Amino acid sequence: MSPKYPVTGVTAPGSGAGSEKSEKSHIGRLARRVRDSARHTFHSVQLRQGLSALERTLQAGRQPKVGLLERLVHGWGNEAWGASSLFLGAMLEWLPRTSDSIVECGSGLSTLLLAAAALLVDRPVHSLEHEEKWATLVMRRLPERWKTAVSVRTTPLRSYGEFDWYAFDPAILSVPIGFVVCDGPPASTRGGRYGLAPILGNRFEPGCIIMLDDTQRREERAIVNRWCRELGAAVVQEGGTFTVLRVGTSRRPI
Ligand SMILES: C[S@@+](CC[C@H](N)C(=O)[O-])C[C@H]1O[C@@H](n2cnc3c(N)ncnc32)[C@H](O)[C@@H]1O
Repeated sequence: MSPKYPVTGVTAPGSGAGSEKSEKSHIGRLARRVRDSARHTFHSVQLRQGLSALERTLQAGRQPKVGLLERLVHGWGNEAWGASSLFLGAMLEWLPRTSDSIVECGSGLSTLLLAAAALLVDRPVHSLEHEEKWATLVMRRLPERWKTAVSVRTTPLRSYGEFDWYAFDPAILSVPIGFVVCDGPPASTRGGRYGLAPILGNRFEPGCIIMLDDTQRREERAIVNRWCRELGAAVVQEGGTFTVLRVGTSRRPI
């Protein structure tokens, strides 16, 4: 009987150095998969427990401590792109000092926290998101009981001439808008986040609070200056990596 594999030249599967190497890489892949799955489970548990703790804290009329916000940021697992614990803490402090509807540009962990806080005071949150996959992820991670507080609007970006911004009908938003959390669209967008003022500015109530993230960047600084001029707004907090503006009281909502 002839051998199944040539005796010289080629090493048969399951024997020799070649198979040892492929077995090692298989074990390596398996180990990575187990590690990623354990990490994912750990993050999910940390997020779920963190959100429950946040809910209890807000229901008790308190603000979350920075440790809890950091656990939430870690559990969310998107540190490079997501809002920082400092930004989220400031957001939860500003929200009760505003009224009427809430608009968010760029969804993520911030959407979940806005939903938790807005539900307690019965205010609607509209979150604008240009990436279907992020909108889906946010909705999947949003606790069922908070879903009535927030609508995530998936809307592509489109050209408005001088800049690009979310392509949606502003009439779908409840007005007036009293609080805006601006963390999108991404910096690579033409005109960055500038579009908020020309597209939604006439829906802001006098005194509307706008939080703009990433204002350590030159482009966002320029946007702050432009919004101050065009909305008659003033800077009311400089948070290092974010800036808070109050829209001029002379402005009237539609
Ligand atoms: C700065 S992120 C918004 C973060 C959000 N406010 C939060 O608290 O998690 C702005 C936009 O970037 C996109 N984005 C978020 N995470 C991303 C990632 N890891 N890679 C690429 N794009 C991302 C989403 O479309 C999001 O609307």
